Amino acid sequence: MTSTIAFIGVGNMGRAILGGLLNGGHPPERLRAADADAAACARVQTEFGVAASADNHAAAADADVLVLAVKPQQLKAVAAGLVPATGSRRPLVLSIAAGIGTAALAGWFGADTPIVRSMPNTPALIGRGTSALYATAATDEARRALAESIMRAVGVVHWLDDESLMDAVTALSGSGPAYLFRVIECLAQSGERLGLDPALARRLALETAAGASELALGSPFDPATLRAQVTSKGGTTEQALRVLDEGGIDALFSRALTAARDRSRALSEEFGKA
Ligand SMILES: NC(=O)c1ccc[n+]([C@@H]2O[C@H](COP(=O)([O-])OP(=O)(O)OC[C@H]3O[C@@H](n4cnc5c(N)ncnc54)[C@H](OP(=O)(O)O)[C@@H]3O)[C@@H](O)[C@H]2O)c1
Repeated sequence: MTSTIAFIGVGNMGRAILGGLLNGGHPPERLRAADADAAACARVQTEFGVAASADNHAAAADADVLVLAVKPQQLKAVAAGLVPATGSRRPLVLSIAAGIGTAALAGWFGADTPIVRSMPNTPALIGRGTSALYATAATDEARRALAESIMRAVGVVHWLDDESLMDAVTALSGSGPAYLFRVIECLAQSGERLGLDPALARRLALETAAGASELALGSPFDPATLRAQVTSKGGTTEQALRVLDEGGIDALFSRALTAARDRSRALSEEFGKA
């Protein structure tokens, strides 16, 4: 039977997942939505025809799944408010809040609650996200599959069997779109400095990033091989890559991801206490 799914928080991410489910054929009468922000509720109502209100309790009352899509610092209070609505029914809790571990969620919702934690990224907004998922021992196969099908509505999913790696996932794919935007900015600005019109430089940078990613995703070769294939001896690409390597691009990204991973850990210390 089709599950009833309640979204607690329909900001950017919650709305994207809800929209993805509807596009995939999930019946609207099996979706519930709640958000503290009246504008977010109105948007979901207008865009998707799904009623939404500030009443988390009402949205959760008959749900088989609670998708928790509020900010990490809001989650503890949200959980406390939801427990009376879930009672002994133990719906699946699917949290996408960055840095909030399943131990904290189990502390808030009850140890035998099935819990899946997910870290999506912003391309989910156009159905091209990539998400990592981690399920607790209290989560059976059927509920794991249910969580996976929900996150598949906005892209591809990868399971982790070690939750501690969620901080590394956050550092790579969670925050990753912003690094690539930064690289695209750098490419466009550098093109401008070489005399290209700003609008053209931006389009060339964006289209190159999109095309290279599509090419690599569909290729049997890894990115290092693809790079070597387009780096002719004595050619232009070789010159640019030499400069990037001499500038320490590898160590720079390594430091950047380590800093993001450490911040993810610190956030869970701050907001993920049971
Ligand atoms: N955006 C990303 O790239 C990304 C990636 C991975 C994971 N995430 C995670 O996804 C979650 C949602 O992120 P987002 O970007 O969608 O945030 P968002 O746009 O701020 O959406 C969160 C929504 O929850 C509402 N809210 C606040 N308190 C609430 C409450 N007590 N009950 C019900 N709703 C409440 C907020 O309303 P107000 O505005 O009035 O507070 C807001 O409309 C976060 O935990 C984030 O860590 C985001």
